[in-house]
Amino acid sequence: MSRVSWEECILLLMALLANASGTFIGINIGTEISNLPSASNIISILKIHEIKHVRLLDADHQMLTALANTGVEVMVSVPNDQLLKVGESRSEAADWINKNIAPYLPATNITYIAVGNEVLTTIPNAALVLVPAMQFLQSALLAANLNTQVKVSSPQSMDIIPKSFPPSTSTFNSTWNSVMYQFLQFLKNTGSSFMLNAQPYYGYTKGNGIFPIEYALFRSSTPNSQIVDPNTLFYYTNMFDAMVDAAYYSMQALNFSGIPVLVTASGWPSRGGANEPDATIDNALVYNSNLVNHVLNGSGTPSQPSIPINTYLYELFNEDLLPGPISEKNWGMYNPNGTAVYTLNFGSVNETTDTVTVPLGEVGVFCVANSSADSTALKEGLDWACGSGSANCSAIQPGQPCYESDNLVATASYAFNDYYHMTQANGGTCNFGDTAMITSVDPSHGSCIFAGSSGSNGTTNRGSVASGPMVPVNDGSRLRFLDWSHAHTVPLVLFFWFAL
Ligand SMILES: *[C@@H]1O[C@H](CO)[C@@H](O)[C@H](O)[C@H]1NC(C)=O
Ligand SMILES: *[C@@H]1O[C@H](CO)[C@@H](O)[C@H](O)[C@H]1NC(C)=O
Ligand SMILES: *[C@@H]1O[C@H](CO)[C@@H](O)[C@H](O)[C@H]1NC(C)=O
Ligand SMILES: *[C@@H]1O[C@H](CO)[C@@H](O)[C@H](O)[C@H]1NC(C)=O
Ligand SMILES: *[C@@H]1O[C@H](CO)[C@@H](O)[C@H](O)[C@H]1NC(C)=O
Ligand SMILES: *[C@@H]1O[C@H](CO)[C@@H](O)[C@H](O)[C@H]1NC(C)=O
Ligand SMILES: *[C@@H]1O[C@H](CO)[C@@H](O)[C@H](O)[C@H]1NC(C)=O
Ligand SMILES: *[C@@H]1O[C@H](CO)[C@@H](O)[C@H](O)[C@H]1NC(C)=O
Ligand SMILES: *[C@@H]1O[C@H](CO)[C@@H](O)[C@H](O)[C@H]1NC(C)=O
Repeated sequence: MSRVSWEECILLLMALLANASGTFIGINIGTEISNLPSASNIISILKIHEIKHVRLLDADHQMLTALANTGVEVMVSVPNDQLLKVGESRSEAADWINKNIAPYLPATNITYIAVGNEVLTTIPNAALVLVPAMQFLQSALLAANLNTQVKVSSPQSMDIIPKSFPPSTSTFNSTWNSVMYQFLQFLKNTGSSFMLNAQPYYGYTKGNGIFPIEYALFRSSTPNSQIVDPNTLFYYTNMFDAMVDAAYYSMQALNFSGIPVLVTASGWPSRGGANEPDATIDNALVYNSNLVNHVLNGSGTPSQPSIPINTYLYELFNEDLLPGPISEKNWGMYNPNGTAVYTLNFGSVNETTDTVTVPLGEVGVFCVANSSADSTALKEGLDWACGSGSANCSAIQPGQPCYESDNLVATASYAFNDYYHMTQANGGTCNFGDTAMITSVDPSHGSCIFAGSSGSNGTTNRGSVASGPMVPVNDGSRLRFLDWSHAHTVPLVLFFWFAL
């Protein structure tokens, strides 16, 4: 394992992103925000993360202008409240294209129009207008000779599939059969994609304990938290794949095949009300990191292994003006003031090379040894963390700030926490043979500073830089919030030896 510079990491990431043969991760940019950042600040955030695909939930002209010549591919939306108008007549649809699409091409690379959002399940009265609106827009694109540049589709909610498990028996709610038939025919004829908002957060919370949270968070490491489809015998290691496959099988049930699923929204809220205990920063970071890795792996779903699942993360900003429970306002990776809620790595890490550990982990969350745990098990966990786990255990060596020769719990806590903060973004857990637990109580004392402590300093105590304020957004030096400079070396000798 060698030390890798920041520049090398970026090159490696770019190579990986390019390798993944067209598979991409994009992001939703919602604007129901009381104090919306400027379009140029938003572009700066996209640049730092090398995000090349965005979904706008409207057709904001300032954003479309700012996205010109950035290399970013843009999906624009017809908001639900404009659907009736656009579906009314060909001329209204042509007008919409002339105002919102045509003037921005080709400088702004608009490639998709999402017509409404979850129309059938949220505004069922408009259902009969949906396909006509799509057809009118398509005709207007054709007339403007833009039909090969811009595709038309409409994002659907998972609620349109009443019973999504097992995926192989899923069907769309038959109430909408005739609309769905026309919808799929349109997608097939125009070479468009089936847009799906796939949200395991809802699948998990509405499941009331049927599904283990590990399954929702892409963390199913043991067969008993994976789920088998009894008809196909496919193993589902995560709910996201099962949702996407449910959409494929539902299309098949209407005799449609060859329409790729494009996931237009998937994410996890970082904060919720008292009755929303699973909306946490920890879960949001784990879900989104694992989703990015899963998508960029390019391996498709069990039923469609050769079709990559391009996905738009939901979402860039917390949207404080959205109605509903607290969690609804907290799906974003950034606060509107530009501070990070948590820091996500948008690139896939080549795990086999083991040179790039992405040192992320949020401030204020610690993984510590359970003081009631069996001491032999604790010692095994400690040895593992400092050995195979590659935690940086130098601070607990003799003479170093966190050295406490007779305190196994404190020593193990340091190592567990270091491992956790180093690997959390890639799905690392706080477990260590059931001897560890998460706490928000900062175990740092004196000059012994734990990773994730707000009193810690950037490079050695990973996490603090990560969540630092990002304003002003155009100051490049402060934007480099991924701590790329840190690379791990396994301690050659572990000096401590507990007499147990
Ligand atoms: C726009 O995106 C499409 C699809 O990826 C790509 O083929 C095309 O080269 C892009 N156009 C520009 C001008 O960047
Ligand atoms: C199908 O949709 C209709 C209309 O929204 C709804 O009344 C019905 O309950 C749904 N069926 C199922 C099985 O969810
Ligand atoms: C799908 O095709 C099969 C075989 O051609 C046919 O029996 C079935 O009725 C079709 N289903 C629908 C919903 O069109
Ligand atoms: C993708 O994931 C599969 C299944 O986890 C794994 O076998 C494969 O090595 C991964 N491929 C890449 C390129 O990471
Ligand atoms: C940014 O917004 C967040 C959430 O509203 C708040 O907690 C934080 O203090 C703000 N930071 C700055 C620098 O304004
Ligand atoms: C990961 O690294 C290994 C070893 O260097 C290499 O063979 C493999 O192609 C890499 N995978 C990807 C997806 O780059
Ligand atoms: C700590 O360990 C004890 C004994 O194994 C166990 O009963 C307890 O639930 C653990 N506490 C936590 C927070 O995991
Ligand atoms: C390990 O942590 C120490 C401080 O505890 C720091 O000085 C050192 O640079 C770290 N080593 C690596 C490889 O990050
Ligand atoms: C952080 O760094 C500053 C400047 O290098 C130093 O003065 C301060 O003591 C450090 N704080 C901690 C907690 O290490």
